[in-house]
Amino acid sequence: MELLAVLRAAEGEFISGRRLAEEAGLTRAAIWKQVEELRARGYRIEAVPRRGYRLVAAPDIPYPEEIRHGLATDRLGRHAVYLPVIGSTNDEAKRLAAAGWPEGTLVIAEEQTAGRGRLGRSWHSPSGGLWFSLILRPGLPLSELGPLAILAAVALRRAILAETGLKVLIKWPNDLVFGEKKLAGILAEAGGELGRVEAVVLGIGLNVNQGEEDFPPAIRSSATSLRLLCGREVRRVPLLRRFLFHCEELYRQELSDPSRTYLEEAAAHSATLGRRVRVVAGGTAVEGTAVRLDPDGALVVATAGGERRFFTGEVEALRAEG
Ligand code: BTN
Repeated sequence: MELLAVLRAAEGEFISGRRLAEEAGLTRAAIWKQVEELRARGYRIEAVPRRGYRLVAAPDIPYPEEIRHGLATDRLGRHAVYLPVIGSTNDEAKRLAAAGWPEGTLVIAEEQTAGRGRLGRSWHSPSGGLWFSLILRPGLPLSELGPLAILAAVALRRAILAETGLKVLIKWPNDLVFGEKKLAGILAEAGGELGRVEAVVLGIGLNVNQGEEDFPPAIRSSATSLRLLCGREVRRVPLLRRFLFHCEELYRQELSDPSRTYLEEAAAHSATLGRRVRVVAGGTAVEGTAVRLDPDGALVVATAGGERRFFTGEVEALRAEG
């Protein structure tokens, strides 16, 4: 067993250096060195003469071994790569997908220097948030696949509700908002050749522990974080594990029975449906009432000239008339 696993198995009790050495298959000197390395990565480990070692606390840093500890999935997050700094986790995940990394691989960064959003926008990603990408290999053409980004939004909403009690809404297509403020965004990208989808990369950005000053002035009034909403720091690792669990659950359902029930959940917690909206897509703006989500994830807007379907675009809620 790895040293960390042996310490964990002791459940907060002391374990003697001799037993630790035996169970981890290491010399006493190697143990000391590894304990120092774990401490440098944020683990709090007590060492007391004649009693041994004790794991006091693990850091809330999404290291692969932290994510896997207590993870209730078969695939999602079982392979994971943690990077202190990267340009964009979506770009790295696409690279790994092309190199053959398996379904469920998670790429997660503490900080992104070139985070990307939908519609060619940039995504501000300082330390303290959750910035990650998942590789999926559904083995179906895109035309038969449901809107996986909405599926991920539903899973993320469930995870946030369970971990914080916050009832966030899904703003079409797949942003999570609280009131009018944006909390999370999702960027789904497909990789492959000529219509054959080799992999889908789901990139998720969730503002977790940023303070107001961490947002650039241009988005300070329109963005928020879980910490700002809850008034306390929120632990990222349990939230991520829970997201992976719900995402896998919904994804499996979608593959075995594509009845798209998650779209009903998205509609039930929508910040868009039932409202007067202006949708800006392809350089034109259309006003009307957002009436439903179609099974392909399209937003249907009832306008004076009839129903219009949108696959992409930016939605702005308008004040109700009268
Ligand atoms: C949006 O709302 O426009 C989507 C934002 C998606 C941001 C995430 S952060 C992790 C992943 N890597 C990226 O470069 N983008 C996505």
